[in-house]
Amino acid sequence: MCGIVGYVGRRTAGPLLVEGLRKLEYRGYDSYGVATLHRSVSVLKKSGRIPPQADLGKGLKGKIGIGHTRWATHGEPTDRNAHPHTDCTGRIAVVHNGIIENYAKLREELEGRGHRFLSDTDTEVIAHLVEEAFQPGKLQEAVEEALRRLEGSYAILVIAQDEPGIVAARKSSPLVLGIGDGETLAASDMTPLLEYTERVIFLEDGDVATLREGGITICCNGTAVQRPVEQVTWCLDDVKKGGFPHFMLKEIHEQPQVFYETVRSVDAREMAAQMRASPWVTLIGCGTSYHAGLVAKYLLEAHAGIPVRVEMGSEFKYFAPPVRGLVVAITQSGETADTLMALQKARAHNCQTAAVTNVVGSSVTRMADHVLYTRAGPEIGVAATKSFTAQLAVFLQLASRLSDGALDGAIATAHLAMGDALRTELDGAVSLCTGAKDIFFVGRGPFYPVALEGALKMKEISYIHAEGYPAGELKHGPFALLTPETPVVAIALPGPTYGAMISNIKEMKARQAPVIGIGDAGDTELADVVDVFLPLPDGPEAVHILTATVILQRLAYHTADALSRDIDRPRNLAKSVTVE
Ligand code: AGP
Repeated sequence: MCGIVGYVGRRTAGPLLVEGLRKLEYRGYDSYGVATLHRSVSVLKKSGRIPPQADLGKGLKGKIGIGHTRWATHGEPTDRNAHPHTDCTGRIAVVHNGIIENYAKLREELEGRGHRFLSDTDTEVIAHLVEEAFQPGKLQEAVEEALRRLEGSYAILVIAQDEPGIVAARKSSPLVLGIGDGETLAASDMTPLLEYTERVIFLEDGDVATLREGGITICCNGTAVQRPVEQVTWCLDDVKKGGFPHFMLKEIHEQPQVFYETVRSVDAREMAAQMRASPWVTLIGCGTSYHAGLVAKYLLEAHAGIPVRVEMGSEFKYFAPPVRGLVVAITQSGETADTLMALQKARAHNCQTAAVTNVVGSSVTRMADHVLYTRAGPEIGVAATKSFTAQLAVFLQLASRLSDGALDGAIATAHLAMGDALRTELDGAVSLCTGAKDIFFVGRGPFYPVALEGALKMKEISYIHAEGYPAGELKHGPFALLTPETPVVAIALPGPTYGAMISNIKEMKARQAPVIGIGDAGDTELADVVDVFLPLPDGPEAVHILTATVILQRLAYHTADALSRDIDRPRNLAKSVTVE
């Protein structure tokens, strides 16, 4: 969702800001804009994607500026609704990520006092509120005054004519500041900063900062505060494609390494002890992270005997049943609004809280009592891949620790098997999928959430309708949809559900549905009954969960690629969903 970038220093800000916005494109957006300060404020903003030309932004003079990619919430994605927004005089410009909940009332009030609005956005009220409070040399005070009137969430950057810097503020929306050599920067996440600095500050809720060429000062509730300067461990290469045609494919291929690094670095002892001691364990997440929770439930219950409830963040916050015990938020970005609100609810019920996340310094890390990090590195493709298997790495470690090392053998070999799964031939399966309007993904036990994740990947990047189902449930309704044009991807691996899966597959074949079977490499029984057989490397169930996931991610990727979809930036989606 919306991306923000700001620069103060010795370089020309315009092109630098445009390049910064390109690095934030993966968050999802439908318009973009930049404002720079030379003698006055100049604004360039447009609906649609940032065009490829390298010199875009060159016409904007000045060494101070702010930029924005907008994911429309209030007002259509048009030129005039794109950020930055300016005040009546055109001397003040603002970019904003978040939602101003009381904007309608504020707008009415401001219009009553003679302010002219040029957009339909909630953001524009900020520019006019700052205008009212502004005194030369006192931009930060004017922003503080304006913020007192706002309800909702924001990360904002503000510049004003004759002011030598940027004022930045955050409340419930991410904002990172970078300290370079004679330059300072701000952005929604670290990706645009990596080229310029490794030293960053994560603003806290309520912080208002002023960025100048020579440094940054921060206030909270009117008092100067110091926030720790952190050293970034991600590097510039992590946010480049490295020879792959898409970030998603690169990230799929990084999984063996990411899995290995996550299991090696994660110290699961404290959270394992909390789980053991807690009468209730609740896992919350959205989308792919929710699916990781469903797999984790299976692992923790089957191997450690710990009863686990899994809830979607978007539902849990409205939950009526009792909220108790340990509540663990699973979130790659650490910024998903639904998950954060759910965790907030858990805190309000005095629950112990924990987080499994990929982003150091993200909002969830400041909210949870205890944090376990995945080591996936920056995930740029909107479709989550390596962050999912890294989350599974954390929960495999937890389940193994809670079961006297029962999964240690599987954990030690999983990265090798994942590497093998990157080479499985998929052509036959891809051609079945590219011709389909609907696809079912089915599995049982832990392979049911794996099927859900496979269907989510397929639908979000190929735009083919895909549904994940527990295999046994198909005949309780969805069978009515099976036709020779409706492929079913069935995961049937050795274990207690294998026989039932084979029976289910035969029932699907009897309805003439083409079946793509994912099974153990030597399984001739499955290979004989399905139309296309996708063999997984030999291994235990815990490894099959990971290798089946890799195969399904690749199936979605190659299907979408064959259909020429915009794989890294699928339509209507945002990488980080920071609004409810
Ligand atoms: C899946 O491919 C999506 N990117 C989406 O479902 C994502 O997993 C969800 O929005 C949650 O994001 P989070 O892990 O950053 O909280």
